[in-house]
Amino acid sequence: MKLSFNPSDDIERILIDEDSIRAKIKELGAAISRDYADRDLTLVSILKGSVVFLADLLRNISPQCQIDFISVSSYKGEPESSGVVRLIMDLRESPVGKNILIVEDIVDTGYTLDYLCRNLLTRGLESLAVCVLLDKTAARKKEVRVDYKGFDVPNEFLVGFGLDYKERYRNLPFVGVLKPEIYKKAK
Ligand code: PRP
Repeated sequence: MKLSFNPSDDIERILIDEDSIRAKIKELGAAISRDYADRDLTLVSILKGSVVFLADLLRNISPQCQIDFISVSSYKGEPESSGVVRLIMDLRESPVGKNILIVEDIVDTGYTLDYLCRNLLTRGLESLAVCVLLDKTAARKKEVRVDYKGFDVPNEFLVGFGLDYKERYRNLPFVGVLKPEIYKKAK
């Protein structure tokens, strides 16, 4: 008989609980709403990790705004970034003349945001800004701009609230530290 898989069992500890995430996203939404009160805004969510954050952030932004998605990957299911970022799916709408706000779940090495900012800045935007929920500064390899930040986080293996390990744990409603035996076992 197959036992049901409970993702919470693989969590060593909760780093940021649901209430704290909710409160922080409300603050971020209020700041973004103020800054874009008189400008059209397009939120660009980086698939897949940022969709949970996007969904909550969007509902805390009051001015008119649009959303679009872009997909890149550098981790390919491994715990460490390969450093080679691949564009998997481009934006659906043209970004020309738009105020783009990149919405990202986590900045780790910075390779993903560095690639995306450089890519978008060649495409005739009106403006570009970056909003990240989690900032793991100790892992940084590339300096990147962060205009709106949720939390600084330690250099540990984090999952939940959109973040995965081998496509699991994205559905956890909090950000947690994965038990080391889970990813070490897989090596
Ligand atoms: C994760 C995360 C960020 C990126 C950050 O994406 O969602 O996009 O890594 O890491 P970096 O700063 O070291 O580049 P991943 O490539 O794992 O894909 P996913 O969003 O589909 O999980």
